[in-house]
Amino acid sequence: MQITTVSKVYFSPCGSTANIITHMAEAAAAQCEAPLSAVDFTLPAAREKTYRFGPEELVFFGTPVYAGRVPNKIMPFIRDGFLGGGALAVPVVTYGNRSFDDGLVELRNLLEDNGFHTIGAAAVVARHSFSMTLGAGRPNEADLREAALFARRVAEKAEALDGAGVWEPVAVPGTDPPEAYYTPLGIDGNPAKFLKAVPKLSGKCDKCGLCAKVCPMGSIDREDPGRITGICIKCQACVRKCPRQARYFDDAAFLSHKQMLEQNFTAAREASYFV
Ligand SMILES: Cc1cc2nc3c(=O)[nH]c(=O)nc-3n(C[C@H](O)[C@H](O)[C@H](O)COP(=O)(O)O)c2cc1C
Ligand code: SF4
Ligand code: SF4
Repeated sequence: MQITTVSKVYFSPCGSTANIITHMAEAAAAQCEAPLSAVDFTLPAAREKTYRFGPEELVFFGTPVYAGRVPNKIMPFIRDGFLGGGALAVPVVTYGNRSFDDGLVELRNLLEDNGFHTIGAAAVVARHSFSMTLGAGRPNEADLREAALFARRVAEKAEALDGAGVWEPVAVPGTDPPEAYYTPLGIDGNPAKFLKAVPKLSGKCDKCGLCAKVCPMGSIDREDPGRITGICIKCQACVRKCPRQARYFDDAAFLSHKQMLEQNFTAAREASYFV
């Protein structure tokens, strides 16, 4: 099959998923000598549209894993906002060195249900958004090289497919269909409940408004960044992107979970690739 377009499609509050997906899609586009297109659905405005794909397109589709699954506030848009139209797709999740649990199987199923044919899949380690140490430096150069190699293999597979064929969804690990979300634990081993936590603002803030622009939920007031006006998914985009390091979480349960992760998930995990 001649691939006519390679697309990179991602939700990526802190940028790791965008980085991985870009490396993969660029490598595949070069392999297929096809143009590259992009859909970044991180911000609310991008989730007001519907995105349509068609046969002979190859789509690298990425999200981070949150609580072992596709982020639950974003899942409905993935379910409703993308029409595969027979395009080939590669579900990719990034995760912060704990586990991707059922995130990849969930993303694969969502894409299959939307009319994509999944022909490869990956779960790639990235720095955990909650921590400066967990998965620090990931993806590193070796990770990115491996990701590009994987993408070229997927592109070769796509080109070798007969357009009239019927393909099985790519096999990935996880409970199918996924059941529970991972329960975050605190340092004492008990569930850490921080659903209602929101980022605080220190005196270093100069009201530049950047955090309001980058919040995927549009939940930070542009005029008064100390005001959180909607839901917070704890993605950490506002914390990481504030040029003055003025935003922080001080919720005790959140900090206890972060400490538990940093103590227990120090061994570097390897990425998983499925073709
Ligand atoms: C709310 C939240 C929940 C997360 N849950 C998990 C998890 O269950 N397992 C894991 O290994 N990493 C987890 N992570 C880490 C992210 O999956 C990881 O940092 C990801 O690469 C972030 O992607 P981004 O940089 O594109 O935003 C979580 C991060 C956030 C913000
Ligand atoms: S990005 Fe930082 S400095 Fe700018 S408004 Fe937000 S918290 Fe304040
Ligand atoms: S307010 Fe919450 S949802 Fe918005 S950027 Fe900050 S952490 Fe993410």
